[in-house]
Amino acid sequence: MEAIVHTVGTKVWIKEEKEAWIKGEVYKAEEEVVLVRTEGTGAEVKCKPEDAPLQNPHNNRGVDDMTRLSYLHEPAVLWNLNTRYAYDDIYTYTGTILIAINPFTSLPHLYGEHMMDQYRGVDIGEYAPHVYAIADAAYRQMRKEMKGQSILVSGESGAGKTETSKLIMKYLAYMGGYSDAGEQTGSGRSVEEQVLESNPLLEAFGNAKTTRNNNSSRFGKYVEINFNDKGVISGAAIRTYLLERSRVVAVNNPERNYHIFYQVRGFKQVEAKYPALLFKQQLDAFVQKIFPMIRDNVRREITPMLNHCIHTPKASGRTATRPAGNAPAAAAGAAGAQAATHKSWTDILAVFDTLLATVKLNFVPKVLVQADYEREEIDWSYIEFVDNQDVLDLIEGKLGVLDLLDEVCRFVDAKGKDFAEKLYNSGSCKDSRRFSKPKTSMTQFIVDHYAGPVKYETANFIDKNKDFVVPEHAALLGGSDQAFVAALFTESGAAAEAAAAAAPGRRGGAAKGVKFSSVGSQFKKQLAELMVQLHAMEPHYIRCIKPNESGKNDSILLPVPGGTDSTLLSTW
Ligand SMILES: Nc1ncnc2c1ncn2[C@@H]1O[C@H](COP(=O)(O)OP(=O)(O)OP(=O)(O)O)[C@@H](O)[C@H]1O
Ligand SMILES: [Mg+2]
Repeated sequence: MEAIVHTVGTKVWIKEEKEAWIKGEVYKAEEEVVLVRTEGTGAEVKCKPEDAPLQNPHNNRGVDDMTRLSYLHEPAVLWNLNTRYAYDDIYTYTGTILIAINPFTSLPHLYGEHMMDQYRGVDIGEYAPHVYAIADAAYRQMRKEMKGQSILVSGESGAGKTETSKLIMKYLAYMGGYSDAGEQTGSGRSVEEQVLESNPLLEAFGNAKTTRNNNSSRFGKYVEINFNDKGVISGAAIRTYLLERSRVVAVNNPERNYHIFYQVRGFKQVEAKYPALLFKQQLDAFVQKIFPMIRDNVRREITPMLNHCIHTPKASGRTATRPAGNAPAAAAGAAGAQAATHKSWTDILAVFDTLLATVKLNFVPKVLVQADYEREEIDWSYIEFVDNQDVLDLIEGKLGVLDLLDEVCRFVDAKGKDFAEKLYNSGSCKDSRRFSKPKTSMTQFIVDHYAGPVKYETANFIDKNKDFVVPEHAALLGGSDQAFVAALFTESGAAAEAAAAAAPGRRGGAAKGVKFSSVGSQFKKQLAELMVQLHAMEPHYIRCIKPNESGKNDSILLPVPGGTDSTLLSTW
């Protein structure tokens, strides 16, 4: 890094508690210390020169690409994004990476066919930064190099990943409908429609209102769109990851269950901005337009099941193994509901597999991004990339947090505190500088993530990690007089699951008759598979940012929590 030369009159940034960074001017400079007068309040601050990063030359609207900033550091990045956001310029590049700041309001002028046409075939950087430009780059690179491309959309809950990926899908679908001669072929249209129309249905079954996002995706999604050698869409497939099943039977106020339950009951309080399509409409569209092979009676059969789920909102399905008497029956129902809903949902999704793919969500491998910087010949060595490997090792490594959770879950009566104790005593956790135990708690643990320490409460870990269908519930539902419900539990998969579950002799005192399967281990497996696929493709990155917690467009961009280092720079 070049030495920063501070002299009297140098414009700098000063870290301040509330505003994160404020502007100031050096009024006295010595070798080891500078004295700065801040703008506005005129406060005088004494600090080391390295704690007073230089301001960039004045610029009213910020820059399109942050690699063009003379000084690239945290306050410069925040200032640039903030300035642009004030003008609704929500997209900004850092090299070939797109940063998308959630506008929390509709910006119709940014999207639509006229804009897609504008970005078609245009190099990144030629026009204002845009999600279409990234989609177009991926599409053109695929055609030129005949190599699979992936677009990774990352960001915290409510940052805009789902909306962004829908825009990408729309763009690719639109481009996939063009012939080489540049005419709309029409041949890709029906697949395009199918892919796009699947979204409301997927969101109905997989999205729910949480404290962070009214339409939060409670599952991971991998969308694959295939093109033929003429660049026309030939198929698509959607793979889903880890639906949060526990939400079906346990929802904490003010969060809600999956949208579908409210829609099927005709609830009207669905948020205005979420299309309040009733289940009937969605299923009609699904059945008539998308997959004619779905039987007409599905809707009739699935509706009471969904109704049943919403009527048994909070019950621990695992406490009852025999449906006798009222209370256990309700619990069994809820457990069944959890199993049945997931099953029916995945069943419906399975139909999507007849189509084919290339958009991936929620995952950014940092190593590849650094490679991207290298390719762009950006000197990123001065950017402090925080290496996450030790956090990953702690969480998913051998005898890491997930492994230990699985071990504890094998004991029938294990509680959160047992899990916490296991962590406190394990060598792999104790030895990790990323792990610590809060002084006053016996149920919590702390992981020191890149953006700062996060305290985890272990109370719900055990329940949320267990993922099995109690055989009695499977048997009960398999005997349902609703053919659809019965089929879900008598298929080979369900039957095998139940049979395996009934196998005795599990180690560690596991509940007899229950097949142990953990969410954590599935997560690890799926992530490993995804990594293999990602490495085979050329990656493109979009980093979504949630600008504030209020969800309003007029708020300023808040500093990154805990971001005393170049957190923004180090997270993609
Ligand atoms: N480009 C955009 N234009 C307008 N509104 C947007 C845009 N991106 C996001 N939003 C708004 O922000 C909300 C949250 O975005 P979204 O559901 O995509 O977040 P997410 O990153 O998928 O979150 P989660 O991880 O919880 O699923 C949307 O419902 C929408 O209101
Ligand atoms: Mg989402």
